[in-house]
Amino acid sequence: MMTGQQPIIVLKEGTKRERGKGAQSNNIMAARAISDAVKSTLGPKGMDKMLVDSMGDVVVTNDGVTILKEIDVEHPAAKMLVEVAKTQDEECGDGTTTAVVVAGELLKKAIDLIDANVHPTIITAGYRMAAQKAVETLEDLAIDVDISNRQALERIAMTAMISKQISGSREHFAKLAVEAIAMVAEKENGKYTVDVDNVQVVKKQGGSMEDTEMIKGMIIDKEPVNPAMPKRIPKAKIALVDAALEIKKTEIDAKIEITDPSQLQAFLDEEERMLRKMVEKIKSVGANVLICQKGIDDLAQHFLAKEKIFALRRVKKSDMEKLSKATGASIVSKIDELEVDDLGQANMVEMRHVQEDEMTFVTGCKNPKAVSILIRGGTQHVVEEIGRSLEDAMSVVAVAIEDGKMVTGGGSAAVELAMKLREYSASVGGREQIAIDAFASSLEVVPTALAENAGLDPIDVLIEMRKAHKANKKHAGINVYTGKVTDMLKENVLEPLRVGKQAINSATDAAVMILRIDDVIASKGGSPGGPPGGPGGPGGMGDEFGED
Ligand SMILES: Nc1ncnc2c1ncn2[C@@H]1O[C@H](COP(=O)(O)OP(=O)(O)OP(=O)(O)O)[C@@H](O)[C@H]1O
Ligand SMILES: [Mg+2]
Repeated sequence: MMTGQQPIIVLKEGTKRERGKGAQSNNIMAARAISDAVKSTLGPKGMDKMLVDSMGDVVVTNDGVTILKEIDVEHPAAKMLVEVAKTQDEECGDGTTTAVVVAGELLKKAIDLIDANVHPTIITAGYRMAAQKAVETLEDLAIDVDISNRQALERIAMTAMISKQISGSREHFAKLAVEAIAMVAEKENGKYTVDVDNVQVVKKQGGSMEDTEMIKGMIIDKEPVNPAMPKRIPKAKIALVDAALEIKKTEIDAKIEITDPSQLQAFLDEEERMLRKMVEKIKSVGANVLICQKGIDDLAQHFLAKEKIFALRRVKKSDMEKLSKATGASIVSKIDELEVDDLGQANMVEMRHVQEDEMTFVTGCKNPKAVSILIRGGTQHVVEEIGRSLEDAMSVVAVAIEDGKMVTGGGSAAVELAMKLREYSASVGGREQIAIDAFASSLEVVPTALAENAGLDPIDVLIEMRKAHKANKKHAGINVYTGKVTDMLKENVLEPLRVGKQAINSATDAAVMILRIDDVIASKGGSPGGPPGGPGGPGGMGDEFGED
């Protein structure tokens, strides 16, 4: 009855709209492009990517999330996969490539099902059921790991670092990561929590990778402000101040008329008197180290040096906060209000030469829950990649300590889950069954990609692994060095349970989200409308339609 009427246009002119299968396959293709881009980096034999940003800066890495963060992704569905990597990174710090590759495979298998006329809602329902079952099965497979089991924790750290450039010094870094994380781990009600931020990471180019060390305290990339200051303070009492030790210059240009030389002297004396008062206050509470977030006037430096106080200025806010955690000092905003209780303590505050630089080391802190790692390496690229690898290692160790559970890698868990999922799907029946089977096959992309990247035949490897798992060898995985299918528990290829769980969940979430979209409405240029600057704004030159 409404036919023949004018169509109602609800979308703005220039809006692009794509619906149904077209929208779906377009989204899936974009997401798969992202997953294919990182697939070749998976595993110990994975390749690195060299990324060049718009400023010409180069990053060479194997870290999934780093690659995806660096590349400029336009397509909204592709962006969703980048989000998967970020979530994975935030939750566990490792497994980003795996999560993205699995998500890509889930989408690839979904397209085949859609082509075979399986409705997307059936696929997403089956995927959800499969994910839940997979997580439960993985939990059953998990092995206990305790904070006191340093060897297992070091193995976990080494597995996380294996594909990175620094793999030559893995053992050294694994030890550092475990030592640092175990130190900052806190036990509450029988459960461990770890805040990885309590490990400060300082990167300094120079020396060799093996010179990378852990310090039970803090490192500040600064030297004392005045050369006359002491270089070592044992039994340090530390004042943290976020105010300047300077006399504020007046904002207004005031003119002072001086008629007599003595008046000038009085004026200068007043400034000196105020600075001296500040230093005296610091001295009076017993501080022998002053760490200041703002500047310190030359004259104040001189007074501090005379009092044998070790002082640093313009220290980063984040360092101030960590120092406060490490030494127990409170950060004070007004020097007048500084009290004995505000001071923090450390066994030693000293200046050390690191390469050509002088740095301040605050060691033997009262609160041993904050430590530092000083990273050394031949070039800036190496130092940066060590930083990323150590972060991965520390995160997996932290997660393993928190959950107390680990699983075996090398594709072993994936193949075991796939097998169990196929048994499960047979019991489910219904149309979802096909989707659950597709999910199972998608997980097997992990061993096949590992094999492929190692130059092995992925089909042969997969067949052999399936056979091993059928024969109840739960931890059979691919040894990418020998090309043999072996027990990953014996090979010490270990990962925290959470990495696998999170990878399954975030890959499923992303795939389901992308599959549910059948309508893409993109506004032109994405601008919400209205001329920039608004009407009557100063930039309104040549506005012929203005009121006037
Ligand atoms: N010695 C090994 N033999 C076989 N497989 C291994 C070995 N060490 C690690 N792996 C496997 O390599 C995979 C991890 O590879 P990689 O670290 O490149 O990717 P990711 O952890 O998913 O992502 P990222 O580290 O970039 O966040 C896991 O499946 C892990 O089990
Ligand atoms: Mg990894």
